[in-house]
Amino acid sequence: MAELSDIGVIGLAVMGENLILNMASKGFRVTAYNRTVDKVDNFINGRAKGKNIAGAHSIEELVGSLKSPRKVMLMVKAGKPIDDFIETLLPHLQEGDIIIDGGNSHFPDTERRVKYVESKGLRYIGTGVSGGEEGALLGPSIMPGGSKSAWPEVKPIFQGIAAKVADGSPCCDWVGDGGAGHFVKMVHNGIEYGDMQLICEVYQIMKDVLGMSADEMHEVFKEWNEGELDSYLIEITRDILAHKENGEPTIDKILDTAGQKGTGKWTGTVALELGIPLTLITESVFSRCLSAVKDERVAASKVLTAGPAPAFNGDKKQFIDQLRDALYAAKVISYAQGYQMMRAAAKEYGWELNYGNIALMWRGGCIIRSRFLGNIKEAFDNNPELVNLLLDPYFAEKIQACQEGRKVTATAISNGIPAPCLGAAINYYDGYRTERLPANLLQAQRDYFGAHTYERIDEPRGKFFHTNWTGRGGETASTTYDV
Ligand code: 2AM
Repeated sequence: MAELSDIGVIGLAVMGENLILNMASKGFRVTAYNRTVDKVDNFINGRAKGKNIAGAHSIEELVGSLKSPRKVMLMVKAGKPIDDFIETLLPHLQEGDIIIDGGNSHFPDTERRVKYVESKGLRYIGTGVSGGEEGALLGPSIMPGGSKSAWPEVKPIFQGIAAKVADGSPCCDWVGDGGAGHFVKMVHNGIEYGDMQLICEVYQIMKDVLGMSADEMHEVFKEWNEGELDSYLIEITRDILAHKENGEPTIDKILDTAGQKGTGKWTGTVALELGIPLTLITESVFSRCLSAVKDERVAASKVLTAGPAPAFNGDKKQFIDQLRDALYAAKVISYAQGYQMMRAAAKEYGWELNYGNIALMWRGGCIIRSRFLGNIKEAFDNNPELVNLLLDPYFAEKIQACQEGRKVTATAISNGIPAPCLGAAINYYDGYRTERLPANLLQAQRDYFGAHTYERIDEPRGKFFHTNWTGRGGETASTTYDV
């Protein structure tokens, strides 16, 4: 009898293939299967040749080739194909076997599938896998959640293939029950949207306010990448700015309309549902939407001509330092918002999330990997109950030191350059640290037109009052409600 495999993987697209090759390179035997079976033979005779990888031409053959408890990982398109494969697999699997979804599924789907598969006596894991093609092959960030008893079964494989940080810790740990793994992956993607947009805003300010060339900007990003902004996204921006086509910067030839696959939108939608002010990430999604209406913007640029033309006559070097500080502070604020959202979701869905471990999972392998995630890990390791990252002593001091960065947003506005995410960051920061916001007036307005009542500063919390503002309304207050 042929040697049994440690795991089976269904789905031979880019991520699936590279993940299989990664597993095999770490000493695990893998059986590969794909709906279009031709791809199995192509793979086995191509990239998988001579490696510890078997091909299966049917689900029966796949399942029959696996060690018990069987582990079948789906690397197929999110949505219906996952449900279809679960149905196809169930009759062939036995109690205790494990189905794993390593695609970009929306966490409520995973939440539902965990319950469903467990109801059949099997176990289910929904895992985020980030790092793109190269990450999948050489070491991705892996964020698994679902049936907890399945974790020890897959842990050696997942931690074996995951990216490692400098001390050797894997960028993979158990996230939590139900859809927690896919939730954390979704937040990762939202943060990625925010980080990218922030860099884009800084780029536009450099280009249009300071009049910097791509080469000059390349030098600045190169320097930043050697300091505390050190991250994958700063690194690729550095390299993009240096790239030339016939001697001209390639970046100048690229149309300014952004695409999106929807994970940033999910993050924003879920934030609204949870009532969390995830302003920066949500702005970054809207920025892509605004970029997409290129024709409208071209037409509007001819009509809405009122507004300043960029003009800068300050100290350029000093302003670049302020840009760096603004970018750093805005990143901290974005992560603070993302962590608040994870905290709210943990409460809502009953997950026990380890926030320090989440930072460690993102520290390497994935698109948002950066030096400062190490500091975030320390912040949550020091205080797992930390209410807001901005209140951590290290980050509070850092933000204090970045205050000059707020001049960047002011300069952008006074020069007519959009900076929605930099603005969202500073507005959140100033809102969060404001003891008395104007919501007293808001409550008065609500009470005026809708008798929605308000609480008073000179009375205990939880006591509600209504004023007959006009003398014409009745004394009856509407019932209070929370949104
Ligand atoms: P295919 O090669 O047979 O198209 C990425 O698209 C991966 O998801 C591929 O392995 C692809 O299989 C698989 N996939 C996409 N849609 C699918 C579906 N409806 N059912 C099964 N597999 C699907």
